Amino acid sequence: RQAEARELMRRAGVLPVVTVASAGQGVAIARALVAGGLPGVEVTLRSPAALDAIAAIREQVPDAEVGAGTVLGAAQLRQALDAGAGFIVSPGTPADVAEAFAEAPVPVIPGAATPTELIALYNRGFRVAKLFPASSVGGVGLLKSLQGPLPGIRICPTGGIGPANAADYLALSNVGCIGGSWMLKPEWLDAGDFAAVTAAAREARAIVDRVRA
Ligand code: 3PG
Repeated sequence: RQAEARELMRRAGVLPVVTVASAGQGVAIARALVAGGLPGVEVTLRSPAALDAIAAIREQVPDAEVGAGTVLGAAQLRQALDAGAGFIVSPGTPADVAEAFAEAPVPVIPGAATPTELIALYNRGFRVAKLFPASSVGGVGLLKSLQGPLPGIRICPTGGIGPANAADYLALSNVGCIGGSWMLKPEWLDAGDFAAVTAAAREARAIVDRVRA
């Protein structure tokens, strides 16, 4: 599953972190992101509509790769899998969560914020991790420092990333993808301006393609 998680991160490039108001809004967002070249959609379990949105996106947007984010425990993991989540992300991974994740039948990107937490994940067999909240815990400098001691773990930093610093993160050898919500501005979502979401997604895709070229 760890190789699959790395592949997923590679395909996504940028993993949009999506908090939905309704299942229908989730479908519209997923369509807008796919249209902009971002197939990965991390729906956070932070709103009541999240599970329905995951199921609806899975059914109605075949080109999207939909997963669940903000998965904080074994019960949420089960709910997300039942809804059809194709991958799982957490902002942090205490031991009980790591135990549940180790058994998951889909790729998992477990959260960490320190070298010790990353080592704990590595020692449990994880080879990918989400660094959260990336910009607050050290950002690009921290990730660079981790390249030496922890080269075997591919990281998805999220938290405080946007068009201005995305390329700096993506250029790092230990970064598999980056995540964030900047292409989902609340005012666009409130106004139903999904064309703006697509435009921001396209800009993000262009940054990924430029850095990887
Ligand atoms: C996450 O859960 O990864 C963050 O909420 C995304 O961070 P951002 O909103 O600063 O992009």
